[in-house]
Amino acid sequence: MKEEWKGQLRISTNYTHSVVTALGIKEGHRVLDVGCGPGYHSAVAHVLGAEVHAIDLNKKNVETAKKLIMHLNELKEAKKLELPGDPAKIQKIILNAMKNEPPKKLPERAHIYHGDAAELDRHISDKDEYFDVALVIDVLHLVNMQRGPKGIMKVLKQVHKKLKPGGKLVAFNFEPGIQNYINKILERWGYQRIGLSEHGITEHDKLALKHVWIKPKV
Ligand SMILES: C[S@@+](CC[C@H](N)C(=O)[O-])C[C@H]1O[C@@H](n2cnc3c(N)ncnc32)[C@H](O)[C@@H]1O
Repeated sequence: MKEEWKGQLRISTNYTHSVVTALGIKEGHRVLDVGCGPGYHSAVAHVLGAEVHAIDLNKKNVETAKKLIMHLNELKEAKKLELPGDPAKIQKIILNAMKNEPPKKLPERAHIYHGDAAELDRHISDKDEYFDVALVIDVLHLVNMQRGPKGIMKVLKQVHKKLKPGGKLVAFNFEPGIQNYINKILERWGYQRIGLSEHGITEHDKLALKHVWIKPKV
């Protein structure tokens, strides 16, 4: 895919840490964030101690994700980070982080790639069955626009390959047609859906947490 997706930064109080905390992410976990946007989920997973690999097609979003991961780490060190916190504060944190210069070097355990989720293997070919958690949140409708349903299948196949057996996948899309398509594929592959929506803070997070899937062990 030659052309970069020109979408706007997604900065919204809809997104909170609750998707990440509901999954029980902690030190030692490895998290894959596909279409990470400004990187809030990745940044929270990172300050909770996870090794994070995130990818996005939009350069500005990649930059913001890098800034945000640095900023949350600084807040954590200064003991100024509240988790759980209030969604409105999250927007402020992202907006503040965006004022910073992009970091020259990311903290340990943080890897953020500028690229196409359909070509994930180019960036992390050595990481099959490596991740405890994969997040594919509100991105596959865009992949569908770029590459059609085959593109969605391509992304999900790669994520499937990267996830450990028994690993958790949040595969959520706010477009019902896209969500149905995702559900059918994952059911066919033997994934079990678990509902964690009671842990969500915002309506968006509650919906996303209805779509937590466990990869089969065999
Ligand atoms: C609506 S945002 C969701 C961001 C993030 N997942 C979240 O939940 O906060 C969609 C993101 O997908 C990215 N995107 C679109 N097509 C992509 C592709 N083919 N590969 C990787 N990222 C893509 C966009 O650049 C945008 O940052």
